Amino acid sequence: MIKAVSAENLIKKYGNFTAVNGISFDISEGECFGFLGPNGAGKSTTVRMIHCVSPITSGTIVVFGERASIESRIIKKMTGVIPQEITLDPDLTVYENLSVFAAFFDIPRSVAKKRIGELLEFIELTNKSRCRIDELSTGMKRRLLIARSMLNQPKLIIADEPTTGLDPQARHLIWQRLRSLKKKGTTLILTTQYMEEAQQLCDRIVILNEGRILRLGCPQKMIQDEIGKEVIEVRIPQEEDKTLLDSLMGLYIGHERAGDTLYLYCDDGFPLKKRIVELNLTKVLNRPSTLEDVFLKLTGRSLQE
Ligand SMILES: Nc1ncnc2c1ncn2[C@@H]1O[C@H](COP(=O)(O)OP(=O)(O)OP(=O)(O)O)[C@@H](O)[C@H]1O
Ligand SMILES: [Mg+2]
Repeated sequence: MIKAVSAENLIKKYGNFTAVNGISFDISEGECFGFLGPNGAGKSTTVRMIHCVSPITSGTIVVFGERASIESRIIKKMTGVIPQEITLDPDLTVYENLSVFAAFFDIPRSVAKKRIGELLEFIELTNKSRCRIDELSTGMKRRLLIARSMLNQPKLIIADEPTTGLDPQARHLIWQRLRSLKKKGTTLILTTQYMEEAQQLCDRIVILNEGRILRLGCPQKMIQDEIGKEVIEVRIPQEEDKTLLDSLMGLYIGHERAGDTLYLYCDDGFPLKKRIVELNLTKVLNRPSTLEDVFLKLTGRSLQE
């Protein structure tokens, strides 16, 4: 399998502060690879080093055989970036934002014109082509950023929190576009704070926290290994945990307490829930396990905190 990105012992320091603390990972060509973590985990810092806009303090990144550094024009040329901040020129129209960028990549005018037309179709903004940026919704701006990242027909696209702040419908539209990019064979790197996004899109993820990798692997397998199939949430005072856990012995495979909730992990919630109901506890919720549970188990806090 061809390696798209390979990072070894990557460290990033800002002065005395270590934002990325010795991480290593490999990304295969055609894969969608995610960085899942809370605010400040080091997601943007990591991907900015991959697309060569942030100097690496130590360690190495190789992108399609090229060693990454802020001088690497080859990597910049074959990479498309959807930045976390909306960096569109408000004085230009939708079309002009794309054509200026195309010129920046030395794409001949006639080629650019055709490509921009196709990309506007792809992100469903053809009818907004002459609009100014401030006439677009946030979801439309994010879609335009996707189109912009595709102008140079990159082998690798890096999307840094592409749906933060969007409503569910706008989010689903972005997911569809990213999935069809992947279908075309583009390698995707995605950062997100949303476990659902990671679960929906990524073949493999790392869970990043305070600049370190807590886990790396396929989301479904990670959930199964760490948690099991189901989670039962019981809202009882913490002092009552021990008594309850003792009386449920053998029915759960793990547990965690966070805030006002006791989380019980299991593969089959039915007998566990039945027993809890027999104990006359009312505030009980039974649901499938998620990456959020994995994060909670590993860090003791929730992703959005
Ligand atoms: N230019 C900078 N100078 C100093 N510290 C920085 C700089 N950029 C980021 N940091 C710090 O590095 C850490 C990681 O930041 P980073 O932006 O990579 O996080 P993130 O995971 O992308 O978070 P978010 O989800 O909020 O975007 C944070 O503590 C941040 O304050
Ligand atoms: Mg970020």
